[in-house]
Amino acid sequence: MSAPNTFYITTPIYYVNDVPHIGHAYTTVAADVLARYWRLRGRDVFFLTGLDEHGQKVQQAAAKAGIDPQRYCDGMVPRFQELWKRLEISNDAFIRTTDAKHKIVVQRYLQELFNKQLIYQGSYMGWYCTFDERFWTEKDVADGLCPDCKRPVEKLSEHNYFFKMGQYQDRLIDHIKEHEAFIRPESRRNEVLGFLQTQKLGDLSISRPKARLSWGIELPFDKNYVTYVWFDALVNYVSALEYLPQGKPAGNSFWPANVHLIGKDILTTHAVYWSTMLMALDLPLPQTIFAHGWWTVDGEKMSKSRGNVVDPYAMADKYKVYGFRYFLLREVPFGQDGDFSETALVRRVDSDIANGLGNLLRRTLTLIERYAGGAVPEVPPSLDTDVEENLTVAGLEAFSLADSDIEEMAFSRALEQIWQLVRAADQYLETHAPWTLAKDPGKRKLLERVLYRAADSLRLLAIAVYPFIPSTARAIREQLGLNPDFFSNPIPFEERQWHRLRPGTKIHIGDALSPRMGAYALTGHEAKLSVSQGASTVSDTPTPPQPVTATAVPTTAAPQAPLPAATAPLAPSPAQITIDEFMQIQLKTARVLSAERVPKSEKLLKLQVSLGSEQRQIVAGIGKKYEPEALVGKTIVIVANLKPAKLMGIESQGMVLAAGDSEVRGLITILEEVDPGTTVK
Ligand code: MSP
Repeated sequence: MSAPNTFYITTPIYYVNDVPHIGHAYTTVAADVLARYWRLRGRDVFFLTGLDEHGQKVQQAAAKAGIDPQRYCDGMVPRFQELWKRLEISNDAFIRTTDAKHKIVVQRYLQELFNKQLIYQGSYMGWYCTFDERFWTEKDVADGLCPDCKRPVEKLSEHNYFFKMGQYQDRLIDHIKEHEAFIRPESRRNEVLGFLQTQKLGDLSISRPKARLSWGIELPFDKNYVTYVWFDALVNYVSALEYLPQGKPAGNSFWPANVHLIGKDILTTHAVYWSTMLMALDLPLPQTIFAHGWWTVDGEKMSKSRGNVVDPYAMADKYKVYGFRYFLLREVPFGQDGDFSETALVRRVDSDIANGLGNLLRRTLTLIERYAGGAVPEVPPSLDTDVEENLTVAGLEAFSLADSDIEEMAFSRALEQIWQLVRAADQYLETHAPWTLAKDPGKRKLLERVLYRAADSLRLLAIAVYPFIPSTARAIREQLGLNPDFFSNPIPFEERQWHRLRPGTKIHIGDALSPRMGAYALTGHEAKLSVSQGASTVSDTPTPPQPVTATAVPTTAAPQAPLPAATAPLAPSPAQITIDEFMQIQLKTARVLSAERVPKSEKLLKLQVSLGSEQRQIVAGIGKKYEPEALVGKTIVIVANLKPAKLMGIESQGMVLAAGDSEVRGLITILEEVDPGTTVK
């Protein structure tokens, strides 16, 4: 029996001849979350993935390439292994069904079942689909085509060896009924039960005559046959434990597996074939078989013929590993089908990571730099406000509630829960406004507390997001001045509590966690989609950031330009203009990336703003009304086609809209969340 402190998680072993796609990445990334999560909680984890290398298709592909199947397989392996490295997959081992030691275990099991008379020879007649490597019954192939892949099937009769699967039908039904967590989610459990309770379970053909298929594992009791695919592949989950957990205590203590993660298409093979094989071998059944849903792509089934196969390498290059991982885990409840689109990915990552988590980090560290000399302050007594209470609770729930979500493999819900802490921390800063506290020396203690707690929130967030987006978690820790390696100095369980950040820790402001991807990252096709959402100037070729050229600077701008030169207070003007004249003014939304005071000026702030596809610097006369930190992350409205001008020697590439006459009363912002760069009319 598996030891209580172990955690054994597997992915399917993927067909070696497949091109790695989003489906492979999905299962493997999800398994990685569980592996990282349980390691962090101190369990001895064994995370296994690998390749399924036998079978007809591999034999055919090798023959076509004129090489022997083993060499063909060897050549395919790096495509998967490198992808897993790229996606930060922390698998402990990688099994190949052509491993000599795996083959020995398969043969031992075959012999054991043969000796127990649970394998027998019989003859089989049926319709065979070469592509899917399986037989179908007469009624399945009424039109002469494989009901699965729609390719023609051929009638075949042959002697084969059969595993007496049918005799385990009742025992399997009982097992499923007695173990609620055995097949998940619930809907899949009901599907399998429904099938077992209404149809007679037959025996399973486990061999092929060598004359037809030689690329398999030879049956130990009949040299004229091989076993291949399912009997060979499923055994990987136990054979691996005999030779792959190097440096771990006796591998067999990992069995039974805690979770076999699979896609919904291979549920029957796991829930029925594998379970009955284990029963026959007198081995315990896995705790959970979890079948996740499938991704469609822009609403369509993904297929080579449609040319819409999502390449995980390309996604990681374009949207970074954290962006791709986060989207896969957050967008769709695990277990359900979902639709993949780059537009949805960009929107999700920009809103949650760039504007959410990343903005919180940047804002907090900038405040610490400015008001606490770049080191985490001491933490004076409680503020005793509702907002502080909310923050405290959100921090505790980011673990307690997310823990049970992760245990249920509800990854999306867990992330939603964790992001409540991002929101609570934002709200906390907003309400206690450290930039205002800083003006009053009597509020120094409060200021320190607010800064401490904001930084402590980020420390907790790094732990909470680590299983999902490990590189982001490390970056947060690095910028907080903590050891980015989660394991060299194990993070004890108690660190998942408030007030574990050491005062005096020097922070290091680094790169933004996630540069906003916006329209700039999208392909032509998707850029058009965002046009229809209102960004009329977004073209198929995104505009590169505008260069700051000296020639564009008008010499007329006085160095001591008064406030209206950089803001346009919305005062009523007596002169009327035509609609055409008005339409010449390009108003756009912009997101404030950073803000700082212009030295020696009371009024001027230097803002870096994002218009989605470009970044601009704007000098605005709003410094009397706003502290720079209060603006970071806000979406404002700017005049985007104003000629650049210099204010106090600093280039300003646009103008900020604000209300007020001689004094600025308030910036124009947007009620709804809109992408930066959206046209304002
Ligand atoms: N070799 C067998 C598994 C043997 S396990 C003992 C196999 N290999 S596979 O390469 O076809 O596996 C593909 C995996 O990717 C499956 O879990 C499948 O569900 C998953 N996906 C394939 N296409 C997918 C999507 N479009 N979306 C999500 N996952 C999908 O089956």
